[in-house]
Amino acid sequence: MIVTTFKSNSVILKKILDIRPLYSAVRQNSQNVEDILCLRGEKESYNFKEKYRVLDEKDYFRFFSKRSMKREPALTRSLTSMVYKIGKQMISLAEGMPNEGTFPFNHLEMNLKSGSKLVLEEQELAKALQYLPSQGLPDLLKLLRELQQDLHCPPSLDRDVIVTNGAQHGIYQCFDMFVDPGDPVITTEYTFTGANSALRPYDPELLAIPEDDFGLIPETLEAVLEERSSRGLKMPRVMYLIPTGNNPTGTILPAWRRKRIYELACKYDFLIIEDDPYAFLYYSQEKVPSFLSMDQCGRVIRLDSVSKVICAGLRGAWMTAPSSIIERAELHSQSELLHSCTLSQVILHRLISQRSDLAAHIHSARSFYERRCTALGTALRSLSHLAHWVEPKAGLFYWLRLQGISDVHNMTFRTALEHGLMLCPGQAFQYEHSAPSQHLRLTFTRIKLDDIETAVRRLAEVIQIEQKLQEREPQRLATER
Ligand SMILES: Cc1ncc(COP(=O)(O)O)c(C=O)c1O
Repeated sequence: MIVTTFKSNSVILKKILDIRPLYSAVRQNSQNVEDILCLRGEKESYNFKEKYRVLDEKDYFRFFSKRSMKREPALTRSLTSMVYKIGKQMISLAEGMPNEGTFPFNHLEMNLKSGSKLVLEEQELAKALQYLPSQGLPDLLKLLRELQQDLHCPPSLDRDVIVTNGAQHGIYQCFDMFVDPGDPVITTEYTFTGANSALRPYDPELLAIPEDDFGLIPETLEAVLEERSSRGLKMPRVMYLIPTGNNPTGTILPAWRRKRIYELACKYDFLIIEDDPYAFLYYSQEKVPSFLSMDQCGRVIRLDSVSKVICAGLRGAWMTAPSSIIERAELHSQSELLHSCTLSQVILHRLISQRSDLAAHIHSARSFYERRCTALGTALRSLSHLAHWVEPKAGLFYWLRLQGISDVHNMTFRTALEHGLMLCPGQAFQYEHSAPSQHLRLTFTRIKLDDIETAVRRLAEVIQIEQKLQEREPQRLATER
């Protein structure tokens, strides 16, 4: 269970940026520790508990899929976690683990850009190369529980965490856990490709709710739910949402919408999968509370990942949810991958345990992307007669709606490539990706700053060529694939 005492790190963290002149030149609001490691609202108070039931252990059974309910614990895995929990040396005739003496490594050293070192040798290295309980490295789990408590200050509830192999793994686990064939699932109209690909094999009925410039529109969601309910249709048990810097639309759901959506989850009885890998990459002063921070009734499954702020190849990620859900996710992990990579978890543990370094690194990653986001935004101004977009306040994406182009498929797969420009078509984020799209998703993560203007100039040319083509040859509107 998550430690419920709030342990403020502000005393240590308040000094971070004073010690690190590298970061001290960046915006005033970001220098405050609270801005760096804080994902809760300012003095928010919630009264959901007074109006709606807090879910208990038995309630979650109605959310689990038939497939998930068939999962049973592997006895050998249960034994391994028990031994880890007891933490005592035992003589073992039980475990099928390989003998550490046969491992070919005896020393591992990684230098961090911050100047510190990560050194593993002997016993520590052997442990970092050995099997683990499926929930994750116990020391890492402890740290993650504390981190979630400090970042979100969630309402007190029996919650826990499990380490996942990237947030993508968490998404997949959630759909496997909660979706039966034909089930309605709520998402935004355009969403992360990885979520759609994970969902498709479950053959769901997608309730793709449109967004405006501020993300998913709660009134539309309510109208859809109300209509289904009045017609006696099957109701959704789960919603998948990217609340901060949605991939691809770049929207950030304001606090009042989050509260409204949370309330709808309580009223219409569904769970919220809060996939928030861009949580730390926000470029505005406004602080928006996470869904986890308001979860009084046990309806939020939060997915975190270090892919966007530390590195992606580590596959460092975790799920935070009511303990009954985490126990079930552990059953999924047991059969999917036993556990995510031990060495990665050891590295993640080191990175997270140095909170001050973590905060400074997040701050520098955010400043890095913010600069690029601004540079692309400035260059795009010359395109205002060709497309519409809203400057993203979080995340890594611009979402452009093109004028005079009914479908970007030919443009991205032919015209742009002929002009040496790689673009991502809106189709990639639609559940039905054979349907036409007027959108492009642009990202600024890896492009050289010097190349941005050239890229935008080429984009303008490509749009104009394509507009003319579509005027002349309407048959080209038909998506060619
Ligand atoms: C919204 C969203 N969720 C999850 C992921 C995957 O993250 P991870 O690398 O942790 O699997 C991405 C990656 O682009 C993403 O945009």
